[in-house]
Amino acid sequence: MDLPWGNEKTIMFITNVGLITSKGIYGDNIMAAEWTHHVSYSPGLIAVCLGLNRATLQNINSSKEFGVNLTATDQNILASVAGGSTGKEIDKVKVLKELGFKFYKAKKINTLMVKDAALNLECKLVKQIELGDHMMLVGEVINAELGKGKEPLAYHRLKYWKLDKNIEKPSEKELERIKNIVQENKK
Ligand SMILES: Cc1cc2nc3c(=O)[nH]c(=O)nc-3n(C[C@H](O)[C@H](O)[C@H](O)COP(=O)(O)O)c2cc1C
Repeated sequence: MDLPWGNEKTIMFITNVGLITSKGIYGDNIMAAEWTHHVSYSPGLIAVCLGLNRATLQNINSSKEFGVNLTATDQNILASVAGGSTGKEIDKVKVLKELGFKFYKAKKINTLMVKDAALNLECKLVKQIELGDHMMLVGEVINAELGKGKEPLAYHRLKYWKLDKNIEKPSEKELERIKNIVQENKK
């Protein structure tokens, strides 16, 4: 069956919004990708899933490298602009600079990175897998920097969210009861 964009089931996921920066045949470009995942600790690998017609995909196909910048809670406009048009037609980096957002040159790849993002990862492409209507690109992280005092934006039900309510842990008594039940069900 299909799980189309915007469908009531599709929108139940909670995701990050990765800002994928690239440089290639469409020049410097940026797109928003909620399908941005950490998939290995050692080495650190990140997977991003891109629609087959994305300018970003063609850029990365030629350069074999890309930036993953996790959108911070005060960068929702940046995410909307990056996801609202294609680098085949619009110079989104220039638009964002005009709007006051800042970029810096990556240290280990030839790509711009988003300043003040929650996390900046410089990646070298190591694998590419076509999955349904998207291409999964797996990048090995070769440089990682945390945004000072920044928190990542969450995406859910087609809206941006800020995570600021932590669910409290059960009481010690309840934790003990759970532990005992787990122990009683050893295989
Ligand atoms: C919040 C948000 C999340 C998005 N997530 C993805 C995604 O995971 N994969 C994808 O291919 N497109 C995603 N998009 C759509 C692309 O960002 C959009 O098609 C963009 O125009 C592609 O830019 P490009 O052609 O310059 O690469 C998302 C858009 C928004 C606003």
